[in-house]
Amino acid sequence: MTVQSASERPRFDLGSVAYGGDYNPEQWPEEIWPQDVALMREAGVNLVSLGIFSWARLEPRPGEYDFGWLDRIIGLLHEAGIRIDLATPTAAPPAWFQRANPHVRPVTVSGTVLGYGARQTYCPSSPEYAGAAARITTELARRYAGHPAVVLWHIHNEYGCHTSRCYCEQSVSAFRAWLADRYRTVEALNAAWGTAFWGQLYADFDEVDVPREAPAAANPSQQVDFRRFSSDALLECYRRERDIVRAADPSVPITTNFMAGLTDNLDLWQWAEEVDVVANDHYLTAAQKDNHINLSLSADLTRSLAGGRPWLLMEHSTSAVNWQGHNIAKRPGELARNSLAHLARGADGIMFFQWRASRNGVEKFHSAMVPHAGTDTRLWREVVALGARLGKLEEVCGTRVEAKAAIVWDWESRWNLDCGNKPSTDLGFRERLDAFYACLWHAGLTVDFVHPGADLSGYRLVLAPSMYVTSAAWAENLRGWVRSGGTLVSSYFTGIVDQNGAVHLGGYPGALRDILGVRTEEFLPLLPGQRVKLASEDPGIPAGSASRWAEDLRLDGAAAVLRHSEGPGAGRPAVTRHGFGEGTAWYLATAPDQSTLDAVLRAACADAGLALPVGRPAGVECVRRVGAGGDEFDFLINHTDQDVVVPLGGEQVTVPAGRVRVVVSTR
Ligand code: GLA
Repeated sequence: MTVQSASERPRFDLGSVAYGGDYNPEQWPEEIWPQDVALMREAGVNLVSLGIFSWARLEPRPGEYDFGWLDRIIGLLHEAGIRIDLATPTAAPPAWFQRANPHVRPVTVSGTVLGYGARQTYCPSSPEYAGAAARITTELARRYAGHPAVVLWHIHNEYGCHTSRCYCEQSVSAFRAWLADRYRTVEALNAAWGTAFWGQLYADFDEVDVPREAPAAANPSQQVDFRRFSSDALLECYRRERDIVRAADPSVPITTNFMAGLTDNLDLWQWAEEVDVVANDHYLTAAQKDNHINLSLSADLTRSLAGGRPWLLMEHSTSAVNWQGHNIAKRPGELARNSLAHLARGADGIMFFQWRASRNGVEKFHSAMVPHAGTDTRLWREVVALGARLGKLEEVCGTRVEAKAAIVWDWESRWNLDCGNKPSTDLGFRERLDAFYACLWHAGLTVDFVHPGADLSGYRLVLAPSMYVTSAAWAENLRGWVRSGGTLVSSYFTGIVDQNGAVHLGGYPGALRDILGVRTEEFLPLLPGQRVKLASEDPGIPAGSASRWAEDLRLDGAAAVLRHSEGPGAGRPAVTRHGFGEGTAWYLATAPDQSTLDAVLRAACADAGLALPVGRPAGVECVRRVGAGGDEFDFLINHTDQDVVVPLGGEQVTVPAGRVRVVVSTR
């Protein structure tokens, strides 16, 4: 199948903000369905995701189909003007499939065969699963292609969520074939994996295994290739179903729901190329302080995956989830605040898991749009109020969020950092990345995320806090961009290895040394709880303190901005700044305390010519969406318990405690 460019693909456009959720009518007697539809209308629901886990109801026995119930509910929804996001049900293979194919059950890294009774019980590389999934998808697509209510196809559900890596024999064979395709010769594999280490040389692809639980840590390159393979194996599953649906129903857009920023099993830069509209699921970690910052990050990452185009929030929760330790209910107003924060950052649809709270099953205590307590509830009233509010925001659809700063995000770095055996267990993909993101969030700067090889010309500031893997080409991309005037901020353990995981030699951070103007001879990680003082060498950045990390760093063109005055790095630069071509490159060879990190990132923004908002109250999120004709939608989101006054374009806008104001300026 030829790959369609983004502009050629079918577009998702309801003409208004999509509002609704996963709808599982098969969990309820049919008498409830008309009530459901009436309530959906009351709540302003205009889109539901249907059939996500319905395989066993649609194909109760192999090759025997029952679409009657689905026809009836689709008919009811259609009559009521509610559109359908129709799912292929392949995330829940039926019991008969497991019985006929016991060898298709997924196997864990330690060799445990996972049983039936949950969902996603399948091996992504199984030909039997591929065949059965293709058959139900074909039947479904044939039956509902062209149905006027079906405006979107939803392939599977959350690829890579429960079943992400399978270690069964079918996976072993598929992994070997994938390696043979990638490396062509086993010598090339040996070179890429550095198998001279610990005498792991392979003479044949058939000698290679998946990286199982072993006496010691498995070869990191083998581990990372297995993650690449596993992402690709799931992508093949997606493409198979997508292509069947596309052939039957070419004009209706197709998507699948990502979990950007929540789980990291898929290389979503690749996946995003394969969907017509990017869709995302996001759940707050209820007990986490400032969890709305994580929401913003996920939304910004999703928008970036969508190439700046509008995207769909396919799932979030109206209140508590059921899968965390303490499933804390959302406070009054939090539902709308969360939903509107996603809308602010580029979503054109606000959907929930799920419409009606289940009576049975694992998720019976998960919140929904219709709670167990019914419609005489605060939660239902908030659901209805949100629907009414979104109904008035249709002009937001299609508008864009503009960012002049970007953070490099790359699953290759994430997977490599996950392998362990690094200089400190404090090193992790999200550790610095979240610290940088939170700092910019508090400063009021909206950011995109970018792949390290992306075109950076639209950005003035690029942050690379966690770009552990840096290929020569990616380094060259950054080099050219800084040389022509960009401001780069890099943190420790960035630019360290190539895409095979081999260390760039000659001093750290090998791939970026010339850009940063530094050369590190040795890493000097700090112990947990150890805090060291930093002396200032730049009038703009006050002295402070740092934790986690230090380096035996030598200046090679850069100037020291802060220097360790104690600890293993005493006397060594901790933060440096380097003029490179027309641009500037900052390097943070430690984890500064919050106010020092703030000061450094503010100075980098100044270098980049980015003006940060002034006078904005703390805890208030302000994001602007801009229409093609110049209309502006300013979302002012008050995450505090106090009413606040936000300066906006010469006006003072009051935003009540915990509420959201959307200020529209039309041209
Ligand atoms: C995921 C799934 C849903 C449901 C929710 C619960 O996002 O896609 O089916 O399990 O989690 O939070």
